[in-house]
Amino acid sequence: MAHITCFTVQKGGAGKTSMTVNVAGTLAGAYGLRTLVIDADPQCNATAALLGPDYADAGYSPTFADVLEGRSTIAEAAVQKSFPTLWTLPGSEKLVAYEMARDDARRGRVIHSVASLLSDAIPEEIDVVLIDTPPSGGIWLQVALAASHSYTVVATPDDFSASGVLKLIGTVDQVCTDFNPALRRAGFLINQYRRTSEGDQYVRFYRDCFPEDVFRTVFPLRGVIGSSRGMRMPVELYERLYRVSTPAAPLFRDVVAEWMERVGIRGRGAVPRFDGEQQGIGLETVEVAA
Ligand SMILES: Nc1ncnc2c1ncn2[C@@H]1O[C@H](COP(=O)(O)OP(=O)(O)O)[C@@H](O)[C@H]1O
Ligand SMILES: [Mg+2]
Repeated sequence: MAHITCFTVQKGGAGKTSMTVNVAGTLAGAYGLRTLVIDADPQCNATAALLGPDYADAGYSPTFADVLEGRSTIAEAAVQKSFPTLWTLPGSEKLVAYEMARDDARRGRVIHSVASLLSDAIPEEIDVVLIDTPPSGGIWLQVALAASHSYTVVATPDDFSASGVLKLIGTVDQVCTDFNPALRRAGFLINQYRRTSEGDQYVRFYRDCFPEDVFRTVFPLRGVIGSSRGMRMPVELYERLYRVSTPAAPLFRDVVAEWMERVGIRGRGAVPRFDGEQQGIGLETVEVAA
Protein backbone atom coordinates (compact mmCIF):
# COMPACT_ATOMS: atom_id res chain seq x y z
CA MET A 1 0.00 0.00 0.00
CA ALA A 2 1.29 3.45 -0.90
CA HIS A 3 2.30 5.89 1.81
CA ILE A 4 0.26 9.08 1.24
CA THR A 5 1.70 12.34 2.47
CA CYS A 6 1.83 16.10 2.03
CA PHE A 7 4.35 18.89 2.65
CA THR A 8 2.21 21.81 3.64
CA VAL A 9 1.42 24.94 5.67
CA GLN A 10 -1.34 27.54 5.55
CA LYS A 11 0.76 30.18 3.88
CA GLY A 12 1.69 30.91 0.28
CA GLY A 13 5.31 31.07 -0.83
CA ALA A 14 6.75 28.88 1.97
CA GLY A 15 7.94 26.24 -0.48
CA LYS A 16 5.18 23.61 -0.35
CA THR A 17 5.29 22.98 -4.09
CA SER A 18 9.10 23.18 -4.30
CA MET A 19 9.42 20.63 -1.50
CA THR A 20 6.71 18.36 -2.92
CA VAL A 21 8.24 18.32 -6.40
CA ASN A 22 11.84 17.91 -5.23
CA VAL A 23 11.15 15.36 -2.52
CA ALA A 24 9.22 13.38 -5.15
CA GLY A 25 12.15 13.66 -7.58
CA THR A 26 14.59 12.50 -4.91
CA LEU A 27 12.40 9.57 -3.81
CA ALA A 28 12.14 8.47 -7.45
CA GLY A 29 15.65 9.36 -8.63
CA ALA A 30 17.82 8.52 -5.63
CA TYR A 31 15.76 5.71 -4.03
CA GLY A 32 13.92 4.14 -6.97
CA LEU A 33 10.58 4.55 -5.17
CA ARG A 34 7.57 4.66 -7.49
CA THR A 35 6.27 8.10 -6.71
CA LEU A 36 3.06 9.89 -7.68
CA VAL A 37 2.51 13.63 -7.22
CA ILE A 38 -1.16 14.62 -7.08
CA ASP A 39 -1.70 18.29 -7.82
CA ALA A 40 -4.64 19.32 -5.61
CA ASP A 41 -3.99 23.04 -6.03
CA PRO A 42 -6.20 24.74 -8.66
CA GLN A 43 -3.20 26.97 -9.45
CA CYS A 44 -1.49 23.83 -10.81
CA ASN A 45 2.06 24.91 -9.92
CA ALA A 46 3.25 21.34 -9.27
CA THR A 47 1.86 20.30 -12.66
CA ALA A 48 3.69 23.16 -14.38
CA ALA A 49 6.90 22.40 -12.46
CA LEU A 50 6.89 18.71 -13.36
CA LEU A 51 5.20 18.59 -16.75
CA GLY A 52 5.27 22.09 -18.22
CA PRO A 53 2.60 24.74 -18.69
CA ASP A 54 0.65 22.85 -21.38
CA TYR A 55 -0.61 20.44 -18.78
CA ALA A 56 -1.43 23.18 -16.31
CA ASP A 57 -3.44 25.29 -18.75
CA ALA A 58 -7.20 25.12 -18.86
CA GLY A 59 -8.39 22.46 -21.23
CA TYR A 60 -5.76 19.74 -20.74
CA SER A 61 -7.37 16.41 -19.93
CA PRO A 62 -7.49 14.02 -18.17
CA THR A 63 -6.68 15.71 -14.86
CA PHE A 64 -7.38 15.13 -11.19
CA ALA A 65 -10.81 16.72 -11.81
CA ASP A 66 -11.62 14.05 -14.44
CA VAL A 67 -10.68 11.38 -11.90
CA LEU A 68 -13.00 12.95 -9.32
CA GLU A 69 -15.81 13.14 -11.84
CA GLY A 70 -15.42 9.47 -12.81
CA ARG A 71 -14.18 10.08 -16.37
CA SER A 72 -10.73 8.65 -15.79
CA THR A 73 -8.83 6.46 -13.37
CA ILE A 74 -5.70 7.69 -11.60
CA ALA A 75 -3.62 5.21 -13.62
CA GLU A 76 -5.01 6.59 -16.90
CA ALA A 77 -4.60 10.23 -15.94
CA ALA A 78 -1.15 10.04 -14.33
CA VAL A 79 1.58 11.34 -16.65
CA GLN A 80 5.09 9.95 -16.59
CA LYS A 81 7.70 12.38 -17.81
CA SER A 82 11.38 12.91 -16.98
CA PHE A 83 11.86 9.68 -15.04
CA PRO A 84 10.56 6.09 -15.15
CA THR A 85 9.34 6.03 -11.55
CA LEU A 86 7.83 9.50 -11.24
CA TRP A 87 4.22 10.26 -12.21
CA THR A 88 2.10 13.39 -11.93
CA LEU A 89 -1.67 13.55 -11.73
CA PRO A 90 -2.23 16.98 -13.29
CA GLY A 91 -4.23 19.59 -11.39
CA SER A 92 -7.10 21.59 -12.84
CA GLU A 93 -8.76 24.95 -12.41
CA LYS A 94 -11.97 22.97 -12.05
CA LEU A 95 -10.89 22.02 -8.52
CA VAL A 96 -12.01 25.51 -7.47
CA ALA A 97 -15.63 24.42 -7.83
CA TYR A 98 -15.24 22.06 -4.89
CA GLU A 99 -14.43 25.00 -2.62
CA MET A 100 -17.99 26.23 -3.20
CA ALA A 101 -19.51 23.57 -0.95
CA ARG A 102 -20.21 26.03 1.83
CA ASP A 103 -22.45 24.07 4.14
CA ASP A 104 -20.53 21.94 6.61
CA ALA A 105 -22.38 18.69 6.05
CA ARG A 106 -21.83 18.85 2.30
CA ARG A 107 -18.17 19.80 2.72
CA GLY A 108 -17.76 16.88 5.09
CA ARG A 109 -19.23 14.48 2.54
CA VAL A 110 -16.97 15.81 -0.20
CA ILE A 111 -13.84 15.55 1.98
CA HIS A 112 -14.74 12.04 3.08
CA SER A 113 -15.54 10.77 -0.40
CA VAL A 114 -12.50 12.30 -2.11
CA ALA A 115 -10.14 11.13 0.64
CA SER A 116 -11.60 7.60 0.38
CA LEU A 117 -11.23 7.67 -3.38
CA LEU A 118 -7.58 8.66 -3.02
CA SER A 119 -6.85 5.95 -0.47
CA ASP A 120 -8.67 3.25 -2.45
CA ALA A 121 -7.77 4.13 -6.04
CA ILE A 122 -4.00 4.62 -5.90
CA PRO A 123 -2.47 2.10 -8.36
CA GLU A 124 -0.80 -0.82 -6.59
CA GLU A 125 2.55 -0.10 -8.24
CA ILE A 126 2.92 3.23 -6.41
CA ASP A 127 5.07 3.39 -3.25
CA VAL A 128 4.64 7.03 -2.22
CA VAL A 129 1.99 9.67 -3.04
CA LEU A 130 2.65 13.37 -2.39
CA ILE A 131 -0.36 15.69 -2.55
CA ASP A 132 0.40 19.34 -3.30
CA THR A 133 -2.04 21.68 -1.55
CA PRO A 134 -3.10 25.31 -1.93
CA PRO A 135 -2.08 27.80 0.77
CA SER A 136 -5.56 28.22 2.21
CA GLY A 137 -7.14 25.99 4.84
CA GLY A 138 -9.91 25.18 2.34
CA ILE A 139 -11.28 21.90 1.14
CA TRP A 140 -8.14 20.70 -0.72
CA LEU A 141 -5.89 21.00 2.30
CA GLN A 142 -8.50 19.12 4.33
CA VAL A 143 -8.81 16.42 1.65
CA ALA A 144 -5.01 16.01 1.56
CA LEU A 145 -4.82 15.69 5.35
CA ALA A 146 -7.82 13.36 5.44
CA ALA A 147 -6.23 11.05 2.85
CA SER A 148 -2.66 11.15 4.21
CA HIS A 149 -0.77 8.87 6.56
CA SER A 150 1.64 11.68 7.44
CA TYR A 151 2.23 15.36 6.83
CA THR A 152 5.28 17.60 7.06
CA VAL A 153 5.01 21.26 8.02
CA VAL A 154 6.99 23.56 5.71
CA ALA A 155 7.97 26.56 7.84
CA THR A 156 9.96 29.60 6.79
CA PRO A 157 11.81 31.35 9.61
CA ASP A 158 9.71 34.50 9.87
CA ASP A 159 6.64 35.66 11.77
CA PHE A 160 4.17 35.34 8.85
CA SER A 161 5.08 31.71 8.64
CA ALA A 162 4.55 31.15 12.36
CA SER A 163 0.93 32.20 11.99
CA GLY A 164 0.52 29.86 8.97
CA VAL A 165 1.95 27.02 11.08
CA LEU A 166 -0.51 27.69 13.91
CA LYS A 167 -3.43 27.77 11.47
CA LEU A 168 -2.28 24.47 9.99
CA ILE A 169 -2.08 22.86 13.43
CA GLY A 170 -5.70 23.95 14.02
CA THR A 171 -6.82 22.44 10.68
CA VAL A 172 -4.92 19.22 11.41
CA ASP A 173 -6.68 18.87 14.79
CA GLN A 174 -10.04 19.30 13.10
CA VAL A 175 -9.27 16.81 10.33
CA CYS A 176 -7.94 14.26 12.84
CA THR A 177 -11.17 14.56 14.84
CA ASP A 178 -13.53 14.47 11.86
CA PHE A 179 -11.83 12.17 9.35
CA ASN A 180 -8.39 10.79 10.06
CA PRO A 181 -7.36 10.05 13.67
CA ALA A 182 -4.32 8.07 12.43
CA LEU A 183 -2.69 11.09 10.73
CA ARG A 184 0.88 11.58 12.01
CA ARG A 185 3.21 14.57 11.82
CA ALA A 186 6.51 13.64 10.20
CA GLY A 187 8.04 16.90 11.39
CA PHE A 188 8.73 20.56 10.72
CA LEU A 189 10.96 21.32 7.77
CA ILE A 190 12.44 24.80 7.87
CA ASN A 191 12.84 26.23 4.37
CA GLN A 192 14.32 29.42 2.91
CA TYR A 193 16.66 29.87 5.87
CA ARG A 194 18.94 32.88 5.68
CA ARG A 195 21.68 33.44 8.23
CA THR A 196 20.28 36.52 9.96
CA SER A 197 19.35 37.14 13.56
CA GLU A 198 15.65 36.74 12.64
CA GLY A 199 16.39 33.48 10.79
CA ASP A 200 18.33 32.05 13.75
CA GLN A 201 15.73 33.22 16.23
CA TYR A 202 12.94 31.37 14.38
CA VAL A 203 14.97 28.20 13.99
CA ARG A 204 15.53 28.27 17.79
CA PHE A 205 11.83 29.01 18.33
CA TYR A 206 10.77 25.92 16.35
CA ARG A 207 13.39 23.72 18.01
CA ASP A 208 12.32 24.92 21.49
CA CYS A 209 8.61 24.44 20.80
CA PHE A 210 8.91 21.08 19.01
CA PRO A 211 12.24 19.58 20.16
CA GLU A 212 11.86 16.15 18.53
CA ASP A 213 10.00 17.35 15.50
CA VAL A 214 12.24 19.77 13.63
CA PHE A 215 14.22 18.22 10.75
CA ARG A 216 18.00 18.28 11.29
CA THR A 217 18.39 19.70 7.79
CA VAL A 218 17.48 23.36 7.70
CA PHE A 219 16.94 24.21 4.04
CA PRO A 220 18.61 27.48 2.99
CA LEU A 221 17.69 29.79 0.13
CA ARG A 222 19.03 28.18 -3.05
CA GLY A 223 18.49 29.88 -6.40
CA VAL A 224 18.73 26.58 -8.30
CA ILE A 225 15.28 25.66 -7.00
CA GLY A 226 13.76 28.36 -9.19
CA SER A 227 15.96 27.59 -12.20
CA SER A 228 15.25 23.84 -12.09
CA ARG A 229 11.56 24.68 -12.14
CA GLY A 230 12.21 26.29 -15.50
CA MET A 231 13.72 22.96 -16.61
CA ARG A 232 10.48 21.21 -15.61
CA MET A 233 12.20 18.70 -13.41
CA PRO A 234 13.30 18.25 -9.80
CA VAL A 235 16.94 19.08 -9.03
CA GLU A 236 17.84 15.41 -8.40
CA LEU A 237 16.76 14.52 -11.94
CA TYR A 238 18.37 17.65 -13.37
CA GLU A 239 21.69 16.51 -11.85
CA ARG A 240 21.30 13.00 -13.18
CA LEU A 241 20.37 14.08 -16.69
CA TYR A 242 23.01 16.76 -17.15
CA ARG A 243 25.65 15.09 -14.96
CA VAL A 244 26.22 18.30 -13.01
CA SER A 245 26.28 19.05 -9.29
CA THR A 246 23.87 21.54 -7.81
CA PRO A 247 24.03 22.93 -4.27
CA ALA A 248 20.42 21.84 -3.63
CA ALA A 249 20.29 18.15 -4.59
CA PRO A 250 22.43 16.93 -1.63
CA LEU A 251 20.21 18.94 0.73
CA PHE A 252 17.11 17.29 -0.69
CA ARG A 253 18.81 13.90 -0.26
CA ASP A 254 19.37 14.76 3.42
CA VAL A 255 15.77 15.90 3.83
CA VAL A 256 14.43 12.78 2.11
CA ALA A 257 16.68 10.42 4.10
CA GLU A 258 15.40 11.96 7.33
CA TRP A 259 11.79 11.98 6.13
CA MET A 260 12.02 8.27 5.21
CA GLU A 261 13.47 7.51 8.65
CA ARG A 262 10.67 9.47 10.32
CA VAL A 263 7.83 7.78 8.42
CA GLY A 264 9.46 4.33 8.25
CA ILE A 265 9.93 3.93 4.49
CA ARG A 266 12.93 2.28 2.81
CA GLY A 267 14.29 2.69 -0.69
CA ARG A 268 13.92 -0.01 -3.33
CA GLY A 269 17.64 -0.73 -3.53
CA ALA A 270 17.74 -0.37 -7.32
CA VAL A 271 17.25 2.91 -9.13
CA PRO A 272 16.05 2.68 -12.72
CA ARG A 273 18.47 3.83 -15.37
CA PHE A 274 17.71 7.42 -16.30
CA ASP A 275 17.14 6.94 -20.01
CA GLY A 276 15.55 10.36 -20.39
CA GLU A 277 17.44 11.10 -23.59
CA GLN A 278 15.93 8.11 -25.36
CA GLN A 279 12.51 9.08 -24.07
CA GLY A 280 12.89 12.63 -25.29
CA ILE A 281 12.92 14.78 -22.21
CA GLY A 282 11.67 18.23 -22.98
CA LEU A 283 9.59 16.82 -25.83
CA GLU A 284 6.00 16.00 -25.11
CA THR A 285 6.64 12.28 -24.64
CA VAL A 286 4.01 10.88 -22.36
CA GLU A 287 3.66 7.45 -20.89
CA VAL A 288 0.75 6.34 -18.80
CA ALA A 289 1.20 4.58 -15.49
CA ALA A 290 0.65 0.83 -15.74
N1 LIG B 1 14.88 27.05 -0.45
C1 LIG B 1 14.53 27.91 -1.42
N2 LIG B 1 15.47 28.69 -1.98
C2 LIG B 1 15.17 29.57 -2.97
N3 LIG B 1 13.94 29.75 -3.46
C3 LIG B 1 12.95 28.99 -2.93
C4 LIG B 1 13.19 28.02 -1.90
N4 LIG B 1 12.01 27.43 -1.60
C5 LIG B 1 11.09 27.98 -2.41
N5 LIG B 1 11.64 28.92 -3.19
C6 LIG B 1 10.98 29.81 -4.17
O1 LIG B 1 9.93 30.50 -3.48
C7 LIG B 1 8.80 30.65 -4.33
C8 LIG B 1 7.60 30.01 -3.66
O2 LIG B 1 7.81 28.61 -3.58
P1 LIG B 1 6.63 27.57 -3.78
O3 LIG B 1 7.22 26.23 -3.67
O4 LIG B 1 5.85 27.90 -5.01
O5 LIG B 1 5.75 27.92 -2.49
P2 LIG B 1 4.27 27.49 -2.10
O6 LIG B 1 3.93 26.26 -2.89
O7 LIG B 1 4.34 27.24 -0.63
O8 LIG B 1 3.39 28.65 -2.43
C9 LIG B 1 9.16 30.01 -5.66
O9 LIG B 1 9.59 31.03 -6.53
C10 LIG B 1 10.31 29.06 -5.32
O10 LIG B 1 11.20 28.87 -6.41
MG1 LIG C 1 2.30 25.85 -4.19
